Amino acid sequence: MTITPFSSRLRTATWADHASAEQSTFLADLTKGRIPLAAHAALTAQHYLIYEVLEQAAHETASPFHSPALTRLPALKADLEHLVGAADWAGLLTPTTATAEYLARLREIAFTWPGGFVAHHYNRYLGDLSGGQFVARAIAKAYGLRLGEPGLLFYSFPLIDDLQAFKAGYRSMMDAAEWDEVEQERIIDEVKLAYRLNIDVLNDLGKVYVNPFPPEVVAQIMKHMNDDHAADSVLICRAFGGQPDATAAVMSGMDADGIEFEVTVGGATQPTRVPFSTRLTQRAEVRVEVTRLYHEARARLGMPPA
Ligand code: HEM
Repeated sequence: MTITPFSSRLRTATWADHASAEQSTFLADLTKGRIPLAAHAALTAQHYLIYEVLEQAAHETASPFHSPALTRLPALKADLEHLVGAADWAGLLTPTTATAEYLARLREIAFTWPGGFVAHHYNRYLGDLSGGQFVARAIAKAYGLRLGEPGLLFYSFPLIDDLQAFKAGYRSMMDAAEWDEVEQERIIDEVKLAYRLNIDVLNDLGKVYVNPFPPEVVAQIMKHMNDDHAADSVLICRAFGGQPDATAAVMSGMDADGIEFEVTVGGATQPTRVPFSTRLTQRAEVRVEVTRLYHEARARLGMPPA
């Protein structure tokens, strides 16, 4: 009979919790750049508070699961100094309600229950070494930050050459730990709690940093444009979409930076994006911006003012 290693059991038992974390609306908005850069700074500040306790526990308990190559606190400080300034970064260090609960749980168990410490340590650091790497690339692209430089140092591990090998070593250490069945179950439950606390932190931030153009809002705007302004869309695409021969234009999407159409040219359709003059932060600005595009399109096409 083959015995499933604990690390595999743990991963299987908590993968649904992972999916909920991965599907966080806040993370999706952040990684797509739909909310301001301040949201990235706010998450970095919450991370600072969490890693402060986690790394204090790692230090005080001399946990074999921790290593200097993982230590994140100096990187988090440097990121915050870069994002909000050396004089102001400490002002961001106010825990959200969920972070306060997370910190209380860490203080309650991480200094006295080695298995509980590992549950939280695994949850954060293996996450940072895995999905965190995707998150960092997306944030870099969305906000013009550079991987491995201040602003995103939290996600880079320069002292670890091979992240996959490091994670495999970490899992082997978990598999070799002398935890009986009861302890293993307790640790699995604690990892589930860790996921829940992380999701709650993300949801707290999601209440503050709201994407002004969620799918339902875009759908309403599209319906209005396509029902009532189809001819206006054609003019906008002719003047600003690089489609001078457009005969029809159906709005197909938008975000804070531009509006998209499926444009008909000579019987074929082509996707066309028209950038806004500025990044929009509120729904009410869409009407103003699209109206401006329409009037300027008429002028650019040599038509009389409407
Ligand atoms: C956009 C968000 C996320 C993405 C794309 C993502 C993606 C991934 C991927 C692809 C893996 C597997 C890596 C491998 O097999 O080596 C992974 C593992 C992991 N992630 Fe995430 N993740 C995200 C968010 C999170 C969050 C918010 C947490 C919790 C704080 C988290 C915690 C973990 C942990 C603990 C593992 C290791 C699981 C194991 O192998 O035992 N992830 N993630």
